[in-house]
Amino acid sequence: MTALTLSTAAAPGLRADAIVIGVAKGAQGPVVAPGAEAVDKAYDGKLAGVLETLGASGAEGELTKLPAPAGFKAPLVVAVGLGEEPGDENAEDGENGYDAEALRKAAGVAARALTGARKAAFALPVDGPGALGAISEGILLGAYSFDAYKGSAQDTGNAKGKNGKGPLAEAALLGGKPRDAAHKGALARAVAVSEELNRARDLINMPPNDLDPAAFAQIAQTAAKEHGLKVQVLDEKALTKGGYGGILGVGGGSASAPRLVKLSYRHPKAEKHLAFVGKGITYDSGGISLKPAGHNETMKCDMSGAAAVFAAVVAAARLGLEVNVTGWLALAENMPSGSAVRPGDVLRMYSGKTVEVLNTDAEGRLVLADALWAASQENPDAIVDVATLTGAMMLALGSRTFGVMANDDAFRSAVYEAAEEVGEPAWPMPLPEHLRKGMESPVADIANMGERWGGGLVAGLFLREFVGEGITWAHLDIAGPAFNEGGAFGYTPKGGTGSAVRTLVRLAELTAAGDLG
Ligand code: BES
Ligand code: MN
Ligand code: ZN
Repeated sequence: MTALTLSTAAAPGLRADAIVIGVAKGAQGPVVAPGAEAVDKAYDGKLAGVLETLGASGAEGELTKLPAPAGFKAPLVVAVGLGEEPGDENAEDGENGYDAEALRKAAGVAARALTGARKAAFALPVDGPGALGAISEGILLGAYSFDAYKGSAQDTGNAKGKNGKGPLAEAALLGGKPRDAAHKGALARAVAVSEELNRARDLINMPPNDLDPAAFAQIAQTAAKEHGLKVQVLDEKALTKGGYGGILGVGGGSASAPRLVKLSYRHPKAEKHLAFVGKGITYDSGGISLKPAGHNETMKCDMSGAAAVFAAVVAAARLGLEVNVTGWLALAENMPSGSAVRPGDVLRMYSGKTVEVLNTDAEGRLVLADALWAASQENPDAIVDVATLTGAMMLALGSRTFGVMANDDAFRSAVYEAAEEVGEPAWPMPLPEHLRKGMESPVADIANMGERWGGGLVAGLFLREFVGEGITWAHLDIAGPAFNEGGAFGYTPKGGTGSAVRTLVRLAELTAAGDLG
């Protein structure tokens, strides 16, 4: 990953491949953002005009390259758009008003454009640790690439990938204070969260022939050891003994047996306990209710919820948060075979309830039901599950926004606000009681399908039945944002995105601070 340093160096003397500056959309054209004063001065204060001549407007996502002014050691200036220039009303208490997400996106755009570069200096508007953390995250997340499978066999493991261009190697952040505890803390937090988030992306991008439930569990065990987490892995035998009918039913068709992984981070001074539950379908073929071609090509991403939970628990441990966090990874591969669960089968779940499986492609709710019930047995203060659960949620909210459902209105709002705070698009969704009727089964306690309309909410209502009595719970359906099938944008690459990691980490931080529940 890109190495970050805080630097007090002046831009002209910096030895780097490029200097990154911000440009905002002002009322009369582009304006140079604070932080780039030295660069502007070297252009005789006419940089905004130069940028306008080059066609820059300051719009978000825009990138303009220009030769560095005479006297600069770096040869190139990279100007990235920050969107609308903030008005004075946003600039209180020595703040410049630039919003964290605009900085995060701009830094990500620049980091992506600097693929192959050795070193870049970032002279973006920094008015405190918040901005510094956002810029750091933008660089670390934007510079991400997944190259493990590129190149010849001998080259595998070479971080440079097939095109020979590695990610930006080093970034110096100007405007940060290397001796300021808050600045150093913001940088350290960004590094821990981004490293774990990028690891979640790696897991999502890994092909399903290499990442089966056992392999995922093994990776979790190794990480747990490294970060002092307790880990328990229930294999097929233990799941059978424990009566985990949902996980066993879904995993039964695959040659790779399912697993339930429990990762526990404990802090001696913790007063609260959060449980995170992740859907970890390492490949979703649909099972006997097989998905048609056109719907299965990206289904390696169906373990994105488990990857997010895994990353968030490790990040909480690395940050030493004063809260107990338990992560549950419900891992299975959904495949059709002679041993697969059939439409019409009835499963006895870990909670004791019976489920009639009407569609084997509605498998996520089955593995989650067992993991939610397992998580409930510890009576945590709250449970949050994360899942690429329904195509219906994508229809409702598009490919960048996840839906938030909950059994508690205040908690749903708190989760939504945490997501907004960290720059993850999310939206609250209801759990309409009338939709429960559609899941009535003539033979079992509930069916795994309900009416078609509101399919994402039906899935949420199903999950709710497997949350222990009186436990606060929220459900994040990340089917849209988990995997980016389009081109890279902002700090989001193609492929696995690491959706929900930052929201989960923020929830753990808020809980540790006593600001949640
Ligand atoms: N993993 C899919 C949902 C999904 C779809 C995630 C597209 C990401 C992108 C899930 O297991 C599924 O197949 N859901 C079905 C449920 C239906 C059968 C009730 C769906 O949404 O069609
Ligand atoms: Mn499915
Ligand atoms: Zn699925």
